[in-house]
Amino acid sequence: MVKLQLVAAALALCQTGLAASAKSKGTPKQRAKALLKKMTWEEKIAQMGGIRRLLTSGPVVDEANFESRYQYQHGNLGFGPMFNWALDALPLINEVREKQINDSRLNIPFITITDSVNGLFISGGTVFPSNLGMSSTFNLPLFEEVTAAIRDEQLSLGVTWVLSPPLDIGWEPRYGRIGELYGEDAYLVGEFGHKYVETMQETDKDGNVKVACTIKHFVYGESRGGVNAASQYSGINHLFNDQLRPYIRAIEASPLALMVSYATVDLVPMSMNEYMIQDILRGKLGFDGVVMSDAGSIANMYTQSKVATSYEDAALQALEAGLQMELSPGTPATFPLLISSVDNKKVAKLIDEAALNLLTLKIATGIFDNALPDETKANKTLRAASHLKLARTAARESIVLLKNDGILPKTPTKVALLGPFGKLLNFGSYAAINASSSKWGDSLHTSLKSALGEENVEFVAGVDLLDTTDNSGISDAVAAAKDAGFAVLVLGSLSVAMEDPLFKKRTDGEFFAHADLGFPGLQQQLLDAVLDAGVPTVLILTGGQPFVLNNSTLRSNAILHSLLGGEYTNHALVEVITGAVNPSGKLTVSMPQLSSAVPSFYDYLPSDDSPGGDSRLGFHSAWQWPVLQHYSPMPFGFGLSYTTFDISTPTATYKNGKVSVSVTVQNTGDVAGKEVVQVYHRPNTTVGIEFPVRRLVRFEKVDLKAGESKEVTFSIPYKDLGYYVNANFKVKGGLYNFWAGSSSRAEDLKAVNVTVTL
Ligand SMILES: *[C@@H]1O[C@H](CO)[C@@H](O)[C@H](O)[C@H]1NC(C)=O
Ligand SMILES: *[C@@H]1O[C@H](CO)[C@@H](O)[C@H](O)[C@H]1NC(C)=O
Ligand SMILES: *[C@@H]1O[C@H](CO)[C@@H](O)[C@H](O)[C@H]1NC(C)=O
Ligand SMILES: *[C@@H]1O[C@H](CO)[C@@H](O)[C@H](O)[C@H]1NC(C)=O
Ligand SMILES: *[C@@H]1O[C@H](CO)[C@@H](O)[C@H](O)[C@H]1NC(C)=O
Ligand SMILES: *[C@@H]1O[C@H](CO)[C@@H](O)[C@H](O)[C@H]1NC(C)=O
Ligand SMILES: *[C@@H]1O[C@H](CO)[C@@H](O)[C@H](O)[C@H]1NC(C)=O
Repeated sequence: MVKLQLVAAALALCQTGLAASAKSKGTPKQRAKALLKKMTWEEKIAQMGGIRRLLTSGPVVDEANFESRYQYQHGNLGFGPMFNWALDALPLINEVREKQINDSRLNIPFITITDSVNGLFISGGTVFPSNLGMSSTFNLPLFEEVTAAIRDEQLSLGVTWVLSPPLDIGWEPRYGRIGELYGEDAYLVGEFGHKYVETMQETDKDGNVKVACTIKHFVYGESRGGVNAASQYSGINHLFNDQLRPYIRAIEASPLALMVSYATVDLVPMSMNEYMIQDILRGKLGFDGVVMSDAGSIANMYTQSKVATSYEDAALQALEAGLQMELSPGTPATFPLLISSVDNKKVAKLIDEAALNLLTLKIATGIFDNALPDETKANKTLRAASHLKLARTAARESIVLLKNDGILPKTPTKVALLGPFGKLLNFGSYAAINASSSKWGDSLHTSLKSALGEENVEFVAGVDLLDTTDNSGISDAVAAAKDAGFAVLVLGSLSVAMEDPLFKKRTDGEFFAHADLGFPGLQQQLLDAVLDAGVPTVLILTGGQPFVLNNSTLRSNAILHSLLGGEYTNHALVEVITGAVNPSGKLTVSMPQLSSAVPSFYDYLPSDDSPGGDSRLGFHSAWQWPVLQHYSPMPFGFGLSYTTFDISTPTATYKNGKVSVSVTVQNTGDVAGKEVVQVYHRPNTTVGIEFPVRRLVRFEKVDLKAGESKEVTFSIPYKDLGYYVNANFKVKGGLYNFWAGSSSRAEDLKAVNVTVTL
């Protein structure tokens, strides 16, 4: 039985029961305002924090943690360890929530909040691909279905607030969290982010938001050296044309919350960055939801950045900058220290605003009115057959074929499965799975054995994930490859959650940065030895990080990237290898040619491709670095198929404020397949800022039978062709270049020009 030690003030007052919570008491904001009037100073502050880890493993309620936090942190509730099973945890969570509703003076419920990347962040849900895998499908309708399934699984556990979606652009390949992002392109990230918010926050029959979203991490992803919390330099034009574009798009769907990043932006930590929060986010972007910290980011102002003289000072500065909720990790929160500012009028006003915003969000999700989740119903929703089917489809569509000399598809009679990932599940640092256990999904070893027969699959790890000294296993791997006559080699970077037994061996995910974008440990040596032996080899890449695919690696007969594809990754890989599934994923992050040849994103500026000097002298090709940086053989949008497609030269017209770009796409090969038609654009000239060489403006995945062709027309309102100069949006008439094709590479695109007259 859980004991809730409530504040003396709360205990002194009567329990009013659940009767107060009926429907139709006005808008969430009106109801929140009425409630706020009855609240004490302490009760308001307590809404600004919560108990992030209710449970420890068992599951059991961590009473010591609960009671030490409860008094001033009872706005929200998180689950705790991901190895607990959802259905075991649910009765405990429900009991704590019910007791809170019964016992708190004003019957204000906890809101349940959680990370949500591959799905639930507790075991027992469907494990979908991570965000980078989902974006690689380039399939927004599929993404919508997947997001709805995740939403329904979260909702079945009573979760009505998720810490998703991330809207940062993956421009820094050394960053360890690229697997959590939707890729490097601001337009694509914005489309996925917008779809996510729209789908999660769909309203139910009573008009309640199903699950509130937190767009994050405002702003992030381009930190120095790719280090998780490092500083970054975001001038106003870069902010608006690149980093904020996905936020601007997602805010159109009215996300109820936003999380600031760990980053120090232009020398000011985001948790105290009044300019970014007030002037930019509230002022220019018009965001009016809850603004929260990242876990521990307010404390960091004192302990790390030394911009505050105490935890209390940090809390005050964060509040004054505009933070309204503190995500509290394992350590005590700092907002409870605001209790001592009871006589400060300015603080009181900010706390009222924060509590009002938080209560509005909570009421909007229906938790004041709806019953707690039903265990039987949750059991039916979690891992529902329809969700598993979607996870399988998503895994299939996320796999990217990067090279194929004709070796694939193939159903080998015998195969040597090589590399340290052959028996592991590598789905990302927010996937609630045990990477070494078949309970959470099948490894490639298991999937290959069930497709080809146990006796036909020989597994040799060859090398360790990390070890850089012991290469003694490589000769066994080469022998197995020669013996089988066909090798499937899985190399990559391990991305698992903090609780995973292999956590110490991971090389990707949050808190990790890559000084080297090659394969960790001796994996490359293993690959080179197998290729040197001349055995036909399919290389499979696993992980969220962009890998250097150097000329040694590119000798592989075929290369597939499985990203972080969720629980069906390995089934889908076998289906792709054998041809049951024709791969259709496209990279959403460019693969660099050398670790030092970064940045490597496709939408660089014309100036980024220049050695300096007078551009008319044409020095450019003599310079090694810009060439390697900007002509990645496998850039954004790239991915092959087992069939061939022809995308016609586009036609373009401008009428009634819209550019219309049309192409005919034909499947010119022998098998059915899906192609992603991509449209890029560039104004012929710009005023005030330099514009990238090209930018994605539309995409569509098209399903075609062998020989079939379809016409695809994209309608592009002229506003989508604009850009920002000093935070002001501009769009001009004149000549525009458009390209359509199958990737962002120049050789995969065909051009058309159109004149826009405004
Ligand atoms: C909450 O109150 C109801 C009604 O009084 C009661 O039936 C229930 O047992 C209480 N729940 C808890 C967890 O205390
Ligand atoms: C969930 O449902 C399955 C069968 O449908 C049943 O065996 C199991 O006991 C249920 N679990 C819970 C916690 O209700
Ligand atoms: C993870 O799986 C490994 C291998 O089956 C097992 O030894 C370990 O106990 C598991 N850990 C958890 C927390 O499930
Ligand atoms: C590829 O990278 C590996 C590991 O860094 C290195 O040993 C090899 O020489 C590289 N190959 C080429 C062709 O650059
Ligand atoms: C790889 O080989 C190609 C063709 O031989 C060459 O153009 C390219 O510069 C090489 N890449 C690197 C990183 O050495
Ligand atoms: C396109 O831009 C070039 C300069 O880059 C300019 O010389 C030319 O006049 C422009 N064309 C049109 C139609 O605006
Ligand atoms: C489009 O305009 C550019 C100038 O911006 C010119 O270089 C190019 O040849 C034109 N392309 C077509 C297909 O007309």
